[in-house]
Amino acid sequence: MNFMKLRISLLSVLMIGCSILPFQKEESNNDLLLAALGILATASDWVWDLPPGFPVPNVPSDNPMTKAKVELGRHLFNEKVLSGDETMSCGSCHIQSLAFADGKDFPTGITNDAHPRNSQHLSNVAYLPRLTWSNPKMSSLEIQARAPMFGESPIELGLSSNAFLDKLKSKSIYKTLFANAYGNAETAVNEQNVRFAIASFQRSMISGNSKYDQYAFRNNKSALNASEIRGLNLFNGEVAECFHCHGGFNFTDTSFHGGAQEEFFYHSNGIHDDAYYAARPSNKRGLYDLTGIAADTGKFRAPSLRNIGVTYPYMHDGSFMCDDANNPNITMGKTKTDCARDALTKVVDHYRSGGQNHSGKDATLIRAFTITNSQRDDMVNFLLTLTDDEFLTNPKFASPF
Ligand code: HEC
Ligand code: HEC
Repeated sequence: MNFMKLRISLLSVLMIGCSILPFQKEESNNDLLLAALGILATASDWVWDLPPGFPVPNVPSDNPMTKAKVELGRHLFNEKVLSGDETMSCGSCHIQSLAFADGKDFPTGITNDAHPRNSQHLSNVAYLPRLTWSNPKMSSLEIQARAPMFGESPIELGLSSNAFLDKLKSKSIYKTLFANAYGNAETAVNEQNVRFAIASFQRSMISGNSKYDQYAFRNNKSALNASEIRGLNLFNGEVAECFHCHGGFNFTDTSFHGGAQEEFFYHSNGIHDDAYYAARPSNKRGLYDLTGIAADTGKFRAPSLRNIGVTYPYMHDGSFMCDDANNPNITMGKTKTDCARDALTKVVDHYRSGGQNHSGKDATLIRAFTITNSQRDDMVNFLLTLTDDEFLTNPKFASPF
């Protein structure tokens, strides 16, 4: 529908353009032609190729999706000129084979400053009305990108000015990519257009072809085995309560629900107790860091569990890892799936124990419940069916460099 509307308005713009053209002088004809080319370049030629069960993502009206912008964004996402010393890009902490997480508990930026939280995966970020672990001000991908680019606490990409734009201009590939995306390479290489193109690229990162999707949305009832189906039912049941915070097609309660309607929530799932948070610096206490309200201590957005089998270590601080001294069964050389299984087993054990004694905890949902070890393993098996190998290897999302 939107696409049709856009095509009609584009057509009328061009028709008005044509009807004016005969009465203009030569110079203004060129101006008009340039303007029309600019409109063409920014008009949406984007067609969402969405998995069954997925709504159309919400796209800000000032940054419509176009193929050329997404392609420019894919380059910029992996462009090291976007860091102060040209050693890092967004892609350094967001790696495709890990669903754009990075496997670390606390990643470091160009100055080796450790980030207080870990790198999030980027599957289906288009559907998140609030970004990052616990910052409600991060209300769009366009805004969020400023933090890693220019943020000083912590320093990530460590840009301190717009000097990187001149470096981009000097690379011939960007002349073409910016001209394709914005119609005019000379004026288009600006800081906002850089962020907007990266945002468009990230919006295109849709993941919806896991074994679970085949079972739930593509009518392939043999895609999940009996254990995985038992795990799915436990996940969606009133004993384990997981679906209250990790529900819906994107496995999180923070989501756009069609159109611009949005919902976002922050919860404590009890991974630490009150004494732990009291001893933390104020950039490590979750939602409290932003609001300063004591009751917000330890509250975070429930992450989407898509591709959870490759995004360990888990929780904002990597509390649940594969290699952990508490695990007597550690052997070196584990496969990724074995590691995820280890860490996810700890996660489900955490929930079934009811978690730590934390006053901000959602006590009706995070409380001890009884399931057998074999039921716990069913839940872990189910969580591992959320891995979408197509997403992890799709050349559309890969670095061009
Ligand atoms: C040094 C590592 C690092 C770099 C470089 C980096 N990120 Fe991140 N990214 C993170 C961390 C850590 C978080 C969680 C931030 C928080 O909660 O404060 C994050 C969160 C995000 C999120 C939010 C995802 C969600 O689920 O809400 C997006 C989007 C994102 N990064 C995009 C980018 C983009 C775009 C760039 C490049 C301009 C970039 N990142 C560069 C580490 C990094
Ligand atoms: C009250 C809401 C709530 C409930 C109920 C809940 N979770 Fe969570 N979950 C969260 C929050 C919030 C986080 C992030 C906490 C943090 O980082 O400190 C999280 C994190 C996770 C993670 C780690 C995700 C990542 O990317 O690091 C997994 C896995 C997970 N939950 C699985 C489950 C399972 C399985 C259940 C049911 C047994 C469940 N959750 C029930 C709120 C909830």
